[in-house]
Amino acid sequence: MTFEAQRVQLIQPSPIIVISQMAQKLRAEGVDVIDLSVGEPDFDTPPHIVEAAYAAMRAGKTRYTAPDGMPELKDAIVAKFRRENGLAYDRSEISAANGGKQVLFNALFAAIEPGDEVIVPAPYWVSYIDMVLLLGGKPVIVPCGVETGFKMTPEMLEAAITPKSRWLILNSPSNPSGCVYSRAEQQALGAVVGRSPRLLVISDEVYEHVHYGTEPFVSFPAACPNLRERTVIVNAVSKTYAMTGWRLGYAAGPRGLIKAMGKLQSQSSSNPSSISQMAAIAALNGPQDFVRTSVAEYAKRRDIAVAGLSAIPGLEVARPEGAFYVFPKCAGLIGKRTSDGKTLANDTDVVAYLLTEGRVAAVQGVAYGVEPYFRISFALSQADLSRAIDRIGAAVANLD
Ligand SMILES: Cc1ncc(COP(=O)(O)O)c(C=O)c1O
Repeated sequence: MTFEAQRVQLIQPSPIIVISQMAQKLRAEGVDVIDLSVGEPDFDTPPHIVEAAYAAMRAGKTRYTAPDGMPELKDAIVAKFRRENGLAYDRSEISAANGGKQVLFNALFAAIEPGDEVIVPAPYWVSYIDMVLLLGGKPVIVPCGVETGFKMTPEMLEAAITPKSRWLILNSPSNPSGCVYSRAEQQALGAVVGRSPRLLVISDEVYEHVHYGTEPFVSFPAACPNLRERTVIVNAVSKTYAMTGWRLGYAAGPRGLIKAMGKLQSQSSSNPSSISQMAAIAALNGPQDFVRTSVAEYAKRRDIAVAGLSAIPGLEVARPEGAFYVFPKCAGLIGKRTSDGKTLANDTDVVAYLLTEGRVAAVQGVAYGVEPYFRISFALSQADLSRAIDRIGAAVANLD
């Protein structure tokens, strides 16, 4: 007997979690595995944010709030968009939820009809596809490899659009590729979107601050003000303030969509934790030095990762401009033989080999919609990162 309705059978558990669990199992058996598979900051939440949570609990901020966020939080989010992105929203255009993930889910849920198409450039963050499938939509995947800097061009977008196109999901800085779309690149895509009046845009900006470019980050509606009423920005305190476990994400978008998202949330999870909301207010309104110091540290690790991986024969490495991942192409390893006579046929084999032979957990590119690649996260200490890269190099050197 199956307990899974048909729509649930369409989706898979996140492959990242599967690999991470394999790594944990090896660790439990006493194998010293370095885990490069998980996408979260290795830093603790800054103390002033933790203190704000304690203070909130003591002050009795322990009750239900408005389902899509308390007014004080919405005000802090409004101020953030004005200060950091030059965008003017009001409270009625803001929604808060349990992480960026729920914000995405709500936005797609609110405005997708069965059979609607959702354009997703690949490599993509894994959950987009499963969310679209779960909601009865059809993902239209546009492959963008290392050769084009992992970016979708206006021509590629144009070719993907049909009368059924409902959403375009952009993610800059990107997980897993680390590519960042410039203002001009967003405007070029925006010009194509502008010609399809039914097409809405999700701009997933959760890595906004984990950005190493000299050019400032540009939010999609700031680049394309004419699309403001058709764009929802997805953001969260998770990556910026090392708050992944607090589950607090937020959206800015057209009033009608935000209202629909709030309605959905009021009949499902209700409000995100009141304590996390108070902590997020402290994060957004408080001192921002953690953001600067953590990003400076990620930048050093990025350089270590890029230099180390580029020196390994068989890997092609693009320098990420944002987020904390490197996404090497491993075509040069496909067809190689391991010492026990197995041939590496695809990137899943490569990742399994790196785990068993190299004791390093990475994630296969196929999980992100392109092959053959793998993703490593560099959100770990410089020493562990260097050890992990040495291990990858040694494992690759043992291939025939
Ligand atoms: C691109 C992208 N969007 C959204 C999320 C969801 O973030 P949150 O932890 O706030 O739900 C993640 C988390 O890994 C992500 O990588």
